[in-house]
Amino acid sequence: MVPTAEHYDVVVIGGGPGGYASALYGASAGLNIALVEKRWVGGTCLNVGCVPAKELLETAHVYRTVAGAAEFGINAGEPQIDWAVTQQRKQAVVDELVGGVKQLLKGRKVTVYDGWGRLGPDHKVTVSPVGEAEGGEDRQDIEITGDAVIIAAGSETRTIPGFEVDGTIVMTSDEVLSMPEVPGTAVVIGGGAIGCEFASMMSDLGTQVTVLEALPKILPGCDKDVTQVVERSFKRRGIEVRTGVKVTGHQPGDGGTVVEVEGSDPVKTEVVVVSVGRRPNTEGLLLDGTGVTTDQRGFVEVDERCRTGAPGVWAIGDCIDTPALAHVGFSEGMLAIDDILGEDPMPIEYRKVPWGIYCRPEVAFSGWTEDDAKEAGYDVVSAKHRYSANSRAKIIGEQEGLVKVIAERNADGTAGVILGVHMVGPWVTEQLGQGYLAVNWEATVDEVAAFIQPHPTLSELFGDTIQDMTGRRLH
Ligand code: FAD
Ligand code: NAI
Repeated sequence: MVPTAEHYDVVVIGGGPGGYASALYGASAGLNIALVEKRWVGGTCLNVGCVPAKELLETAHVYRTVAGAAEFGINAGEPQIDWAVTQQRKQAVVDELVGGVKQLLKGRKVTVYDGWGRLGPDHKVTVSPVGEAEGGEDRQDIEITGDAVIIAAGSETRTIPGFEVDGTIVMTSDEVLSMPEVPGTAVVIGGGAIGCEFASMMSDLGTQVTVLEALPKILPGCDKDVTQVVERSFKRRGIEVRTGVKVTGHQPGDGGTVVEVEGSDPVKTEVVVVSVGRRPNTEGLLLDGTGVTTDQRGFVEVDERCRTGAPGVWAIGDCIDTPALAHVGFSEGMLAIDDILGEDPMPIEYRKVPWGIYCRPEVAFSGWTEDDAKEAGYDVVSAKHRYSANSRAKIIGEQEGLVKVIAERNADGTAGVILGVHMVGPWVTEQLGQGYLAVNWEATVDEVAAFIQPHPTLSELFGDTIQDMTGRRLH
């Protein structure tokens, strides 16, 4: 017998960025909200994703800064890594942020259910105990209902045949983030966002890294000029990148393993990091008769407002087939709440969402790549400017990278509406803001060129690139 505990305006399943954003935003709009979370509030992003990954990348940045300090006349000596302290700091950052989200949920009177949620018909969500509490005498399934339900179950790591994750030799991002020491050698399978961030971080900390990517280039989705800068930087720093390769398995041996690559040399390594994408966390989530459908890969199927096939049930974040980014999850969470409130929200333009990849050099972009824009039939004009000519980049000693802007060509041949802004270089994840606004505001080159950029800044390079497209130039 399952007792019915409560009825809510909205029941959210999953407490990651998508789920907690819907709960916080919905509660701020006056809705009575329940949030069901089976493992950890903050989800992948706060616990084993964005935050710990960026914290370790920042550690690599500090290491580089100290190692290069003599160039500035600061003699700090050879830096030493105390990995236990690194891990403690990373965990402290994670714990503080998770604690902050919990406080916000409490402050907005969101009821958090600690358990595994499964959706049944008629908006019924069964919450079962998980983990240590499972089978505990004092805990049993409860059932809660909502006028609306938001599925925000997120995603989990996946691997490939022949690479069983053991957490010591073969790891996914979950294990890398808590590894007990920095390995001497590493093979990274998959040169996407996770692969490039980890390759960069480990290489900066002294690991000899080989990236094995199945496609002809790393960083799928990035403009080719951006990818080229990252590939050259990796090569210069001794990261070997092999593209268009197929890994077939590995042979564990003394102190590591040997990764077999079809048609290419095997690679001996201490650890293998499998970063070949993630899969939606939807197995067992939907009981019979919900009316919610999933596709072949397990993604919940939704329309442009994140509505599933069942009236009153929305799905958001990594469990739907949209860009798997925390801020996209936030945005979809808010969209779902606005829709629940009957406010006729604008769908998200997924092609124009901002991307930030925190490898060195950093990558940030919004909008069309040059190739995709041409393929879609746009007549385009583009311009590129390099950080090597930027005064702030010279001051901080990080001159690798460029800004590239793509605009639609007007009938008179001049550059018109800005279609894409692509950046690679120092702190570009913090510089994308104005490019993102320009793309999403559908601003023209002439409109943006009229704005003043502060000097000396890295963001001047965006202004220089835009100005170049007007036919006149300063730098
Ligand atoms: P998740 O964060 O996966 O959260 C889902 C939550 O739901 C989990 O806590 C899970 O326990 C819970 N759950 C699942 N099923 C149930 C159930 N049935 N009942 C109860 N609870 C359930 N994105 C960025 O934007 N920027 C970055 O820099 C970035 N870096 C990343 C680095 C790494 C290493 C990884 C792995 C990911 C990174 N991402 C980044 C992606 C980002 O973490 C995800 O896009 C984001 O976490 C998705 O949010 P979500 O709420 O949809 O899902
Ligand atoms: P991804 O989809 O970005 O990249 C996976 C890569 O692995 C692709 O290049 C793919 O071609 C390659 N691949 C797949 N199978 C392979 C195989 N058998 N052998 C060799 N290569 C293979 O996935 P990733 O890096 O795992 O990240 C998952 C998602 O998490 C990203 O798509 C992104 O949405 C999110 N993320 C975002 C970050 C950010 O915004 N800074 C950072 C990390 C992750």
